[in-house]
Amino acid sequence: MLSGKTVLIGITGGIAAYKICELIRMFKRHNANVRVICTPNAMNFVTKLTLQNLSQNEVGIEEFEIPDFKPEHISYADEADIMLIAPATANTIGKIANGICDNLLTSIVCAFKKPVVIAPAMNCNMWENPIVQENIQKLRSTGYEIIEPESGFLACGYNGTGRLADLNKIFDKTVEIINSKKKLTGKKIVITAGGTIEDIDPVRYISNYSSGKMGLALADEAFQQGAETVLITTKDIVRPYKIIKVKSADEMKQAVEADFGGADCVIMAAAVADYRVKNKAEQKIKKTDSDSLTLELIKNPDILKELCTKKTTQKVVGFCAESENLIENAQEKIRKKGCDYLIANDISRKDIGFASDYNEVVIFNKNGGQKRIERAPKNIIARKILEEIYE
Ligand code: PMT
Repeated sequence: MLSGKTVLIGITGGIAAYKICELIRMFKRHNANVRVICTPNAMNFVTKLTLQNLSQNEVGIEEFEIPDFKPEHISYADEADIMLIAPATANTIGKIANGICDNLLTSIVCAFKKPVVIAPAMNCNMWENPIVQENIQKLRSTGYEIIEPESGFLACGYNGTGRLADLNKIFDKTVEIINSKKKLTGKKIVITAGGTIEDIDPVRYISNYSSGKMGLALADEAFQQGAETVLITTKDIVRPYKIIKVKSADEMKQAVEADFGGADCVIMAAAVADYRVKNKAEQKIKKTDSDSLTLELIKNPDILKELCTKKTTQKVVGFCAESENLIENAQEKIRKKGCDYLIANDISRKDIGFASDYNEVVIFNKNGGQKRIERAPKNIIARKILEEIYE
């Protein structure tokens, strides 16, 4: 199952460290190459000799102990297909969440661009601590896979949540990620997200209700499946892949075009303003005695349509936000824009679409085919859209 794959296991200083000996054997039984690194504190719970024998590899602990042409943390990071940190203590979780690299393990995670799975284990009061929970949320939203600890009798004598998750669960999740991420390896996918902002003056602007969640879900999924991912967004986001922050439709156009050449696929999930203010005021527009104010709007470039005229091998995918006649309007739009796929969603519904964590879409293709994906969390919708494009 895992021939040719390298699993990098990071062990930190918690009592559950002894369980990782069995986990190493599980990966070895499935033919994985297992590399182990430990924090110095982990050595209080397991021995280097045991881990070396089980993994059949040298075990790394100190950052500068083995001279090599590449710094240790970089060569470990380059070699592995996935990194699994188990057990992950509150201390190491806090360091990773805050970019601290004060030992070999934390330096490797920081340099690691492939999937990272974290299985925390600690005392239940530590687990419930709001700071620990905030760190966990931060890691999760940065793209780390968290396998939550389980409830039960803990080594410290307490009964509560904090016990390392079942080893089979950790093993299965890691294998699932190793195998799934490969589907889009070698593909570069560019995704846009969020509503563009068109200035009226230094104080006011025209925009829309797009939260950027749909585009972000697509980018996260593309990244998890191994794609070189570029997210062009109007929102402030931190992710382990390339993020380009833009504001207006013009800025988005420039960013998309800069990455279009080498892309395999572009997905325009952003809600791009069709119009912008013709003469943006340099200074704040003052209130006058008149009861009305007229703004003249001019058309923005249609980024999607222009990409479709320039494309060579790229798959170009548009979204279609409609408040009525979804199917008819989408059929008309895919024809007018000339894209390969158009993902239609109904933005009049409160339980999907704008700002919701859920969506329901109909995927149209250029040959006239259509497929409905029933209401589901946006990450599931994203997975199904990518499946449809890359089937
Ligand atoms: O961001 P969320 O809160 O998660 O909400 C998700 C969403 C509802 C914004 C998303 O699913 C969606 O529907 N995005 C497209 C919104 C939109 O602009 O739809 P449209 O039908 O107006 O445009 C059609 C397509 O042309 C879109 O791919 C759009 O990115 C593109 N377009 C539009 C205008 C323009 N000037 N240039 C463009 O490229």
